[in-house]
Amino acid sequence: MQLNTEILKNEERVIYSLRELYRGYGYSQFKMGKFEEYDFYARNKDFLVSEDIITFTDTNGKLMALKPDVTLSIVRSSRGGRDSLRKVYYNENVYRVSNRTRSFREIMQTGLECIGNVDCACVDEVVTLAAKSLKRISDDSVLVISHLDVVEDALKKADIADSDRKRAMQCLREKNLHELRNLCAGGFDALEDLVSTYGAPDDVLAKLRAKGLADGKALAELESVVRALDAEGLAGMVSIDFSLINDMSYYNGITFKGFISGIPDGVLSGGQYDRLMKKLGKDAGAIGFAVYIDTLERLPQIGEEESAAGAAESPAKTAGAGASRRTINIALPKGRLGEQVYDKLEKAGFGCPEIREEGRKLIFENKELGIRYFWAKPSDVAIYVERGAADIGIAGKDILLEYEPDVYELLDLDLGKCRMAVAAMKTFRDDPSRTLRVATKFENIARRYYASIGRDIDIIHLNGSIEIAPILDLSDVIVDIVETGTTLKENDLEVVETIVPISARLIANKSSFEFMKPEIERVMRGLAE
Ligand code: PRP
Repeated sequence: MQLNTEILKNEERVIYSLRELYRGYGYSQFKMGKFEEYDFYARNKDFLVSEDIITFTDTNGKLMALKPDVTLSIVRSSRGGRDSLRKVYYNENVYRVSNRTRSFREIMQTGLECIGNVDCACVDEVVTLAAKSLKRISDDSVLVISHLDVVEDALKKADIADSDRKRAMQCLREKNLHELRNLCAGGFDALEDLVSTYGAPDDVLAKLRAKGLADGKALAELESVVRALDAEGLAGMVSIDFSLINDMSYYNGITFKGFISGIPDGVLSGGQYDRLMKKLGKDAGAIGFAVYIDTLERLPQIGEEESAAGAAESPAKTAGAGASRRTINIALPKGRLGEQVYDKLEKAGFGCPEIREEGRKLIFENKELGIRYFWAKPSDVAIYVERGAADIGIAGKDILLEYEPDVYELLDLDLGKCRMAVAAMKTFRDDPSRTLRVATKFENIARRYYASIGRDIDIIHLNGSIEIAPILDLSDVIVDIVETGTTLKENDLEVVETIVPISARLIANKSSFEFMKPEIERVMRGLAE
């Protein structure tokens, strides 16, 4: 019987097409049950995307978990050893808290794993299959490749206190050079080179060689992967970028992530994970990747003509990069800061005269320049950018620290400068034997700060006019923005402690960055001058 693929939804068509692809390369299907002992995940929870797991008690009283991950189960069922290579693919539901909704979701994943004698040829094959998987979903896709040894080398060369290492890695993930510089007592150059070395494989490899940024082994592995992709005509969809950093206690070597134009998150993620194997007591190499099928929901449903013209090669070819898609969307924070930033952009040649007109319009477009501005509430800018409604935006560091959006932080604009501080009535004396009542709009910043000094607190969340809380004895202290200090002064309050300096930052959506690199870099240069 001939399968009529036209009636399939995009996601179903992708699953079907990828299964065909993986089988063609000799991968066999791995089928697994829906649950596993909770203890197994508890022991390896750092490997999981989220620590939240749905649990229930089995008939024999054992605590079980609905599977939050596939890789761990496949590894567990592998016997280890390097004398052979096990190649499997899967198509399974996992149950985990979605980054977006912060609630549990059933998430469909398709992917593959190679375990055992993972040599260079095997790594090349898996990365090639990742690229082919993306191509089968959309022609407008990018595979970002990184090598963790290169990142580790650069980190070793920099003089960073052990306590700042985690933050330094996060700065690398954010392309955040301005803060990384402050964390380095020396050896910043290697990290600066690393952050600014990204893009087309040939250019990046040439720079790595010229600057000696990668050791022989890492360089040879990257070169081999690029050669393999080139042989399949896929090198054009690849970008090498060392801001892609997986957890180094599990992953090693080559790591990669796939993006599709129009989808704000990565749709594919993978890499070598020999260190996980070791942690689980298995002597074997491993590499694999997963395609997050749920992220494909947002792809436009493929048209009839397209599906007739060979769905297998491009099951969900999107409308692609239409003219409007290439318009760069910029979220500006409403208010004085946004206007200052717009002035700079206008001077740099990115003006949109209509924006100066009186009125209550919020969206402005300069079609000639391919720029669309919109005024957003300052605290919402990061959401627009993280979810891809804006490609870039200007957000206060306070908002970035509070919501920790997964975005690039490209520039410190040195505007909107103020500080996040603890303030209290002038008469306030802290009594460490009592729980401290803290009123704030910035719950996460306050929690992290007091956790870092080991102080027990009770958070009172307020939405504004925080300064009146201690006056009315609703709280002992406040954690809030202090700019000129006038509000505190006029209400008989004073700063007790500065938590962190704040200023405006240029942020970018990670997927947009892959598809609009020249446009984003132009704006970046305009703002940096
Ligand atoms: C912020 C902050 C302080 C004030 C500090 O309030 O929450 O109240 O600015 O500025 P200053 O040190 O120059 O006096 P915002 O104007 O954002 O209003 P809010 O009360 O709604 O938070």
